[in-house]
Amino acid sequence: MHDKLFIPGPSEVRPELLQVVATPQIGHRTQKYKDLHAALIPMLKKILYTEQEALVFTCSATGVMEGSVRNLCQKKVLCTVNGAFSKRWFKINGFNGIPADKIEVEWGKAATADQIDAKLKTGEYDVFTMVFNETSTGVRAPIEEISAMMKKYPNVMFCVDAVSAMAGDKIECDKLGLDVCLAGTQKCWGMPTGICVTMISNKAMERAKQAKAPGYYVNFVDAKEYNDKAQTPHTPAIPLFFALKAQCEHILNEEGLENRWARHIEMAKIVRKWCVDRGFTLFPEKGFESNTLTCANNTKGISIADLNKALSKAHHAIISNGYGDLKEKTFRIAHMGDCTVAEIKELLGWLDEIIPTLPKVA
Ligand SMILES: Cc1ncc(COP(=O)(O)O)c(C=O)c1O
Repeated sequence: MHDKLFIPGPSEVRPELLQVVATPQIGHRTQKYKDLHAALIPMLKKILYTEQEALVFTCSATGVMEGSVRNLCQKKVLCTVNGAFSKRWFKINGFNGIPADKIEVEWGKAATADQIDAKLKTGEYDVFTMVFNETSTGVRAPIEEISAMMKKYPNVMFCVDAVSAMAGDKIECDKLGLDVCLAGTQKCWGMPTGICVTMISNKAMERAKQAKAPGYYVNFVDAKEYNDKAQTPHTPAIPLFFALKAQCEHILNEEGLENRWARHIEMAKIVRKWCVDRGFTLFPEKGFESNTLTCANNTKGISIADLNKALSKAHHAIISNGYGDLKEKTFRIAHMGDCTVAEIKELLGWLDEIIPTLPKVA
C-alpha cells in the first residue's frame, strides 16, 4: 500500500487519472495527437483565465523558469527571494550568464509592491521574477498589489512561478497582466510529475523573437509555432498529455472552477485552525498564508520525522518536514490538487491520535 501524499508535491493522483496515463501510445505527428492537443489548449486557457498563449512543455517547472529568463531578458532580471524556489530562479540567471539582482526578504515574509517598485524605478531591468506561492515557507505573495504596481512598467516582463498554486488558487493571468505564469503538474493539478503548463503573453512572445540566445529546448517562439499547429517541437510526454486533458475536463465540467478554488480555501482554513488550536503557530507572516499548503512552526518540539514514521505505519500517509534549514523547526501539510475536505479532516484526526504519543525532543 502506498503512502497517501499530504506533502506539497508530488501530490496524490486520482486512480482514474493514473489509468488514463496507461492509454496506449499514439504517434506525436498523427491526427490523433493533434486532436488531443487541440482539445487541451482551450481548456488550459479557461483555467488560466487567458486569451493569450497556453502551452505545455515536457520538462519540470525549472526548465521553464530557465527558459523564461533566456527568452525574455535583454538587460537585467530583478528577482524577489523569500524562500528556496525564488532563490533558485535568481541563481538560474547566473548559470546562464544573465545579469540579475535580488530583493531578499526574510523567509516567512513576502516582498512588497513598494520594495519592487523602488528597484524597477531605476530602469535597469526588463524582466521581473517572483514565486507566487513559496512551497518552502507556505507564503502567498501579494500578487494583486504587485500586479497593480507592475502596470507602470509595461516593458518589464512579469514572470510568475505558480508551481504550488496553479489549478488550486485562482490566478487570473490576463487580468493580473502576467507575461509568464508556469507550473509543473505534480502539485495543485493533482497530476503526475513531468510537464509544465505555461501561460505566455503576446508581449512576451514579441520580446522572445528578439532573443539572441533563447535556448533550443524551451524556446518560446518555436513552441508557439508548433502550438498553433496543435503540435510540440519535440516529442511530448504523451501519457501526461492524455491525463492533463482528462484532468481539465474534470476541473471544468465535473468540479467547476469556482468550486475548486473554494475547496482549496476551505481546506486551508481548516488546517490553519487546527494548527492554532493545537498550539502550533503559523510560519508565514499573518495575512500571507498560502491557500494550498500550510507551514507551521513546530512550537511543541515534537520530532516531525517520528511523526511521519508513525503516520506512515498506522495510516499509510505522510506530511512534509520543514524545508532545508527549517527541517524539524517547521512542518508542512499540503491541501492541494484533488485532496478533499473529508481527507484533510481524516488526516488531522490521525495527527491528533499520534502527536500525544510522541516523546518531546526539543
Ligand atoms: C514554487 C516552486 N517552484 C519551482 C519548483 C521546481 O519544480 P521542479 O523541481 O519540478 O522543476 C518547485 C518544486 O517544488 C516549487 O515548489
